[in-house]
Amino acid sequence: MQAGQDSNDRRAIVVMGVSGSGKSTLAALLADRLGCPLIEGDEFHSAANVAKMAAGHPLDDADRWPWLDRVGQAVGAAAQRGIAVAACSALKRRYRERLQAASDVPLFFVLLDTEADELARRLTERAAHYMPASLLDSQLATLERPAPGERALTLDAARTPDALCADVLAAIGTATR
Ligand SMILES: Nc1ncnc2c1ncn2[C@@H]1O[C@H](COP(=O)(O)OP(=O)(O)OP(=O)(O)O)[C@@H](O)[C@H]1O
Ligand SMILES: [Mg+2]
Repeated sequence: MQAGQDSNDRRAIVVMGVSGSGKSTLAALLADRLGCPLIEGDEFHSAANVAKMAAGHPLDDADRWPWLDRVGQAVGAAAQRGIAVAACSALKRRYRERLQAASDVPLFFVLLDTEADELARRLTERAAHYMPASLLDSQLATLERPAPGERALTLDAARTPDALCADVLAAIGTATR
């Protein structure tokens, strides 16, 4: 059995944060280290949502609810045999609650948080992606950092993916149980 695959211990780690914070990078690394399924939240957007973002328009809540439901369901299904990892912006507390409601496993959130100029630099360098750098300001304005009562860990997104991964793996030993 691979690390993290224990059907009596179903749960999921959701790597969250604004565009460019490194969610997809860290989530892929975690899934690789844990040998567990990976859910990429971006892949669950409707074509209309993708077109809206690509045109530089921020999504509103009505755009996000069905997407969050699909991501949450996919996370629950992916964690059928133990742990799963997801990348999903989950910017507002209500979005995290919606993800949790749509998923039938306990979710543990990891916020990747850092300075706006570092994020802007990364997005400018990453050309082949539908999220334009111009949406960063609206994402930062939307972000509600996890409150103390939420099951969440905040890490400095400017650190290396390996260092971030090591911190999450150390934290989940206790924090997600
Ligand atoms: N820890 C890191 N340090 C430096 N650069 C990073 C780090 N993590 C990711 N990057 C780089 O920053 C860019 C954005 O990373 P990534 O695509 O993982 O972000 P994201 O949060 O998934 O963004 P989006 O919400 O737009 O999908 C990529 O070019 C990636 O290689
Ligand atoms: Mg991503």
